[in-house]
Amino acid sequence: MTPSTSRGAIVVGASSGMGAAIVRRLVADGIEVVALDLAAAQWPAGLGATTGSIDVTDTEGVARAITDAAAHLAHLDIVVNCAGILGPVTPTLETDQETFSRIVGLNLGGAFAVTRAALAHLVPQGFGRIIHIASIAGKEGNPQMAAYSASKAGVIGMVKAIGREYAASGVTVNAIAPASIDTPLIQGMTAERREVQKSLIPMGRFGTAEEIAGLVAYIASPDSSFTTGFVFDASGGRATY
Ligand SMILES: NC(=O)c1ccc[n+]([C@@H]2O[C@H](COP(=O)([O-])OP(=O)(O)OC[C@H]3O[C@@H](n4cnc5c(N)ncnc54)[C@H](O)[C@@H]3O)[C@@H](O)[C@H]2O)c1
Repeated sequence: MTPSTSRGAIVVGASSGMGAAIVRRLVADGIEVVALDLAAAQWPAGLGATTGSIDVTDTEGVARAITDAAAHLAHLDIVVNCAGILGPVTPTLETDQETFSRIVGLNLGGAFAVTRAALAHLVPQGFGRIIHIASIAGKEGNPQMAAYSASKAGVIGMVKAIGREYAASGVTVNAIAPASIDTPLIQGMTAERREVQKSLIPMGRFGTAEEIAGLVAYIASPDSSFTTGFVFDASGGRATY
């Protein structure tokens, strides 16, 4: 099946950083967007999208929020999940089990909840694009970020599994694995840690949220029709695979 001429998208984790940039890019491309984030989110002005609340750790709430957002759109084609937290950057021996579970539960459990809710709407229509923001931390493992790295490695494994499972359905499931992108997430790191992160990038700079949004726009487009279960690189040359 081909996508409808008027495309619609839901962006989760959309009030900040990459999510907000992705909303702006999709809206600029003529796509109707519902932007979702935590109820407490401060929405930037002029986003051009309908906004609503979602907590990706609340599985039933995720299903409800995606259903409500889909009902609001003329047509749902694209679901992008940007919800995620870094958590404390601390030695493993100073990281308790509860912290590990909380970060993995939000970043990976949330990604699964959003994927399931999205598939329920997209598979019956025979077309769709599901895109997650994983991380290069999930490929390489960042020291002192065991929970974050594990959660993003989990997102990568999940996308490969579900992408293959639904490969014949017309719905593609992919991820992007960015290196450090200049958003509030890394602005919360110490200056020293940010320099370490930057030094790992051969281009010698952080990526921008707009660069990630451009890649999302491509993956979400009908042109990206033969790629699923894949992890796109956006790492300024850092990734070796
Ligand atoms: N910035 C980076 O360097 C970088 C690199 C690789 C991957 N990522 C990933 O990209 C994604 C976007 O991050 P960002 O850099 O734009 O950070 P950000 O902090 O600006 O945005 C994250 C968004 O997720 C939302 N969120 C957090 N918990 C949520 C929950 N329970 N339910 C719904 N929404 C929730 C936040 O409110 C926020 O709007 C994250 O998954 C992050 O792990 C970031």
